[in-house]
Amino acid sequence: MQLHLSTWPEIETYLTRSRGIVIPIGSTEQHGPNGLIGTDVICPEVIARRAGEVGNFLVGPTFNVGIAQHHLAFPGTITLRPSTMIAALHDWVSSLARHGFERIYFFNGHGGNITTIQSAFQEIYADQSLASGNGGNGARGAVTCKLTNWWDFRPVADYCRDRYGAAHGAHATPSEVAVTWAAFPEAINKVTMEPRVAPTMMQAGRYADADDYRARYPDGRIGSDPSMADPADGEKLIELSAEGLIKDYKAFLAG
Ligand code: NI
Repeated sequence: MQLHLSTWPEIETYLTRSRGIVIPIGSTEQHGPNGLIGTDVICPEVIARRAGEVGNFLVGPTFNVGIAQHHLAFPGTITLRPSTMIAALHDWVSSLARHGFERIYFFNGHGGNITTIQSAFQEIYADQSLASGNGGNGARGAVTCKLTNWWDFRPVADYCRDRYGAAHGAHATPSEVAVTWAAFPEAINKVTMEPRVAPTMMQAGRYADADDYRARYPDGRIGSDPSMADPADGEKLIELSAEGLIKDYKAFLAG
């Protein structure tokens, strides 16, 4: 079940059986020579929708622009400032809370979003803690948020290690490219990359702003060989991550 493909009476009915929702969250940013700019959006969205169908839960619209200032020297990237993203997440959660949602599970596709999402949670909790009265928010119940990355589940991490080894890398990885190719086979794009495995952060160093990033990582990749991507692996990764999400989300609702 997807929020944006539902009517308001359907959401009203849903709220009588569940107070939870999964929100895919990603980033619109370059993913090397063969990876789609929407990679970090597509991965959590496709996996969350699969899990929502199997697990019979509600999946929200995807929060699809995140923290990507360091990718802005590559055409197509769109970023939010951390302060903008925190404010937007605060408003998304407050809107959902107004309807009675109490468990908001963010399913993330971009490592660069993590600290900002956690800061947004602190803003939301600060509001609740600072408000007086029962439950901290007057008539509405307190909200609990959770953040999980689609690659966090053990079977996913094991699969990536076994399949790609050190060439998995840190950005524009073969696993994320594989997931997008499983979802959109028309995007399969064989590109020869030189060097085959991109420099790691240990080799090329920590980046700061966008120009610095592009100077250190000229084709956009970090430590990866996304030419290893294969749509069949992508399908397996979707399956493994969706299984992990169903279990983890149900535990979150129960907790
Ligand atoms: Ni990515």
